[in-house]
Amino acid sequence: MDKIHSLTGMLDLYEDGDSSDLSKNIFETEKRIKNIFSNYYLKEIRTPALEDTDLFKRSAGDISDIVNKEIYSFQDRNDKSISLRPEGTASVIRSVIEKKLDQSTHKLWYMGPMWRYERPQKGRYRQFYQAGVEILGYPEGAPEFEMVSMVCSIIEEFNIADCTLKINHLGNQDNKKAYCDALIKFLEPLKKNLDEKDLERLSRNPLRVLDSKNQDTQLILKDAPSLKEFLETKSIELLEAIKDEFSDVCNIEIDYTLVRGLDYYSGFVFEALSSNLGAQDSFLGGGRYDDLCSKLGGKDLPSIGMAIGIERFASLVSDTTLSDKIVSFITLGSILEPKTYKIAHRLRSLNKNIILDMQLSDSSLKAKLRRANKNNSEYAVIVGEEEFNNGTFIIKPLKDELKEQQTVSIDELFEFYKAL
Ligand code: HAM
Repeated sequence: MDKIHSLTGMLDLYEDGDSSDLSKNIFETEKRIKNIFSNYYLKEIRTPALEDTDLFKRSAGDISDIVNKEIYSFQDRNDKSISLRPEGTASVIRSVIEKKLDQSTHKLWYMGPMWRYERPQKGRYRQFYQAGVEILGYPEGAPEFEMVSMVCSIIEEFNIADCTLKINHLGNQDNKKAYCDALIKFLEPLKKNLDEKDLERLSRNPLRVLDSKNQDTQLILKDAPSLKEFLETKSIELLEAIKDEFSDVCNIEIDYTLVRGLDYYSGFVFEALSSNLGAQDSFLGGGRYDDLCSKLGGKDLPSIGMAIGIERFASLVSDTTLSDKIVSFITLGSILEPKTYKIAHRLRSLNKNIILDMQLSDSSLKAKLRRANKNNSEYAVIVGEEEFNNGTFIIKPLKDELKEQQTVSIDELFEFYKAL
């Protein structure tokens, strides 16, 4: 019978047996990112994967690529147009408005799958995971610093090398409009040199031309007016203050050509990139979106947010950063005494930072040690019939050949485990 395959651009994640370690890194990364979010006193929000298609049309902008070409939309059985969410921000704001929470401040996080019908390639999937943060109800200033601090914490916690945090300010609506007009005036006489995609961007959203992947367009743009000249001094000062404060933790670059793929941004925007990712080099992005809430029928709710692309991020994280200490608990012979399980139970409660792999099969010591080595255990705690009767345990170091194995009492075992 023909086998059924997964859909193009959609990954199965499986921790046990994934030779590339990507799945393991993804699961572990998600866990640790959640801890960082808790450190920043963010509260979880979970919204549905499916939404009314109009939500994304009105939020991302009719003219963004995401809404134009990448959205997974369907007619449901009632002939209503619904879509799989391509990103999380619009859903969060929809939910906050619906619950009448749009008059107060909130610091929220979410994690989950998003869908975009893009051409799959390395680091670009049709179903991918995002960890997002939305700080709602605070005007420009403090949240910008808090957000950059969070990004820096994440980069530091995971030891991400070779990465740059690009920051920019898109100005207020007036600055943005004045700059767009100047850009149109500059590009209009050069239109014959632009490709179809850039021409479309020029007519629909001129700022997006700055994001063109076409080398010829980029050459033309070298002489274009700079956004910096259209910004207020306080916007430039904000960028410089952020760079000054955080440059010792993370490589920060002010890039006046940085624009984002979604139309709802104004003010401060940012993207973190790594040269180790190839063409899809941005693993995190976000910015301020003060007008989105009112545009979706809610109150004025100045807000800022960001999302991490989990697959891209996890591929940058090295195994050594994520490696936990593992101990294998090996019982031998016919020992299936409930007591040994109780001892393992006690060990786990004594030191929650250690992963204890209780080997459940009835195989030989050799086979069990092989498994312990394979799962990267630092030690094996071994108890055979003789040890069991004497009340002793063998602690066998598995990684350091210079360390000798030792036979210890139960209290010594507890002390040893606690100190690991
Ligand atoms: P975004 O830049 O569209 O922003 O996506 C954020 C991150 O998701 C990207 O930096 C990238 O790592 C990852 N990503 C995007 N598309 C794909 C894909 N096809 N495959 C794999 N990874 C992908 C947003 O989504 C905004 N909602 C962020 C935000 C939150 N802004 C304010 N609040």
